[in-house]
Amino acid sequence: MPGTGGSRQWAVGLREVSKTHGSGRGAVRALDDVTTQLRQGSFTAVMGPSGSGKSTFLHCASGLQRPDSGTVEIGGHDLSGMSETSLTELRREKLGFVFQGFNLLPALTTEQNITLPVHLAGRRLRLDKPWLERLLDYTGLADRRRHRPGEMSGGQQQRVAIARALIARPEVVFADEPTGALDTATGRAVLQLLRRLVDEVGQTVVMVTHDPVAASHADSVLLLVDGRIAEVLGASSAEAIAERMTRLEA
Ligand SMILES: Nc1ncnc2c1ncn2[C@@H]1O[C@H](COP(=O)(O)OP(=O)(O)OP(=O)(O)O)[C@@H](O)[C@H]1O
Ligand SMILES: [Mg+2]
Repeated sequence: MPGTGGSRQWAVGLREVSKTHGSGRGAVRALDDVTTQLRQGSFTAVMGPSGSGKSTFLHCASGLQRPDSGTVEIGGHDLSGMSETSLTELRREKLGFVFQGFNLLPALTTEQNITLPVHLAGRRLRLDKPWLERLLDYTGLADRRRHRPGEMSGGQQQRVAIARALIARPEVVFADEPTGALDTATGRAVLQLLRRLVDEVGQTVVMVTHDPVAASHADSVLLLVDGRIAEVLGASSAEAIAERMTRLEA
């Protein structure tokens, strides 16, 4: 990012990032010269029409996919020079992921699912028990700690997935359509939880969504069109976001 001394205030920085999927005649330029910086402790929503590159943005920004060109920095670390092993470690120790399908292990209880990333990291991470209790409290799951996913509602399972994403105190949480599979009321509770984490513990959150109501919980909204950032909105109402989206798609 321009300069060096100030880069610590940015949780995530992308500079001139491009990514093409496929090759030859089937090649699709999913991200086209994207430059943006996401502040620590901010809640960013990424919106855009289907196929505009939202998931690719999330995957490149979180080191799940390597861009073809450009640089990605997380917490001041440039990802381009990192080996696959270092990238995996960085993702495990510094990033949290929440996807639409929850990805919980059915045989494990709530508490076991939440603490799984710590156990998988072996000696590199230690379970912070007071933080686990606080997360169970935040997510309203304290009385569900011994339930298995099959014994819980979709909203409860998504909250388990969020607590699991947070257990290692990540620098950034990346969420792809975290409310996509939930009904309106349950989705709202999940969004309010993410908002609280930003406000109360300074969590940095990056969330892909197609829902203007979900995006209205964010501090800023990146609008992607054809793999490019067409516009950046500050905190906005769902109506204002929907109106901008309609104009951009027209
Ligand atoms: N593995 C892949 N191989 C080929 N093309 C791909 C691949 N992944 C994505 N694409 C293409 O890249 C473009 C961007 O895809 P991406 O998944 O980032 O979009 P999106 O905005 O997340 O869409 P949606 O809202 O439907 O989830 C699309 O045209 C998509 O078809
Ligand atoms: Mg997607």
